[in-house]
Amino acid sequence: MTKYEAIFRRKSIRRYREAEVDEKILEEIRGFGKDALGDRPDIAVRWKIYRASDRSVRGLFQVKAPYYAALYSEICEDCYIHAGCLMQQLVLHLHTLGIGSCYQGGARLKDSREEGMELMMILAFGWPAEPLERRRADFKRAELKKLVKVNGPLGRAQRKLLEPARLAPSALNQQPWRFVVTENRIHLFVRRPGIVGYDRQLNKNMFNAGIVLSHMLIAAEEHWIDLEYQKLDSIMEKAIQNHLYAGSLVFTGTVGKA
Ligand SMILES: Cc1cc2nc3c(=O)[nH]c(=O)nc-3n(C[C@H](O)[C@H](O)[C@H](O)COP(=O)(O)O)c2cc1C
Repeated sequence: MTKYEAIFRRKSIRRYREAEVDEKILEEIRGFGKDALGDRPDIAVRWKIYRASDRSVRGLFQVKAPYYAALYSEICEDCYIHAGCLMQQLVLHLHTLGIGSCYQGGARLKDSREEGMELMMILAFGWPAEPLERRRADFKRAELKKLVKVNGPLGRAQRKLLEPARLAPSALNQQPWRFVVTENRIHLFVRRPGIVGYDRQLNKNMFNAGIVLSHMLIAAEEHWIDLEYQKLDSIMEKAIQNHLYAGSLVFTGTVGKA
């Protein structure tokens, strides 16, 4: 199975077997991201793995799992979207190996200090004690027409990216994203947080935007669609119905019509 195929089959896993994950795979996780799509080598990140027996992970809505992967990053512009983009590729990669996972947005670490970095997210993972996959029809997600603003029908290339985007997981399944589609671009927006806890919530929404971005980048690669992810000054100041601009996918090759 490929990461692309995993997009249409994965689900959060909340029950795990105690079985060990091979050290080779754990080592792969510790070095994950160097070949990932959307990786920004200029943003320093670090992965750490904790075992349940370490008793290092605690907090709200915690899923009991044998392992937890924590992603740290230096704090800079786009660090949350970058972290989401990397972690979701890890989720899909683990799925291709038969390993389940579940984001732990409410979890904390006993000690999350890391020189010059901050904790972005924790991911519970391990061998599943429940079905690893679900059918496409069983994804509970908003319809594309609720998420996409477009003049006229969607082009074929755009649809190939937006359907995988629609299936992306998000905290509390809130799907805090919107897409504005033009002939050669897909602009990504995230929900504008309320005043209380604005920065924290915006960081979370940007992490979610990174998840959705990873699905679109993987789909573009699958379908040989040439594009670049950019932040366009012309869109930066725009907001659509309580949403803030996160970035744009700019098609650089020929884009087929519907
Ligand atoms: C950023 C983020 C944080 C999440 N935090 C939690 C959590 O703390 N506990 C939990 O059980 N699930 C958590 N989830 C899982 C979501 O509830 C789940 O992805 C969503 O409901 C969609 O379901 P699916 O992953 O099965 O497709 C989180 C997901 C994301 C993307």
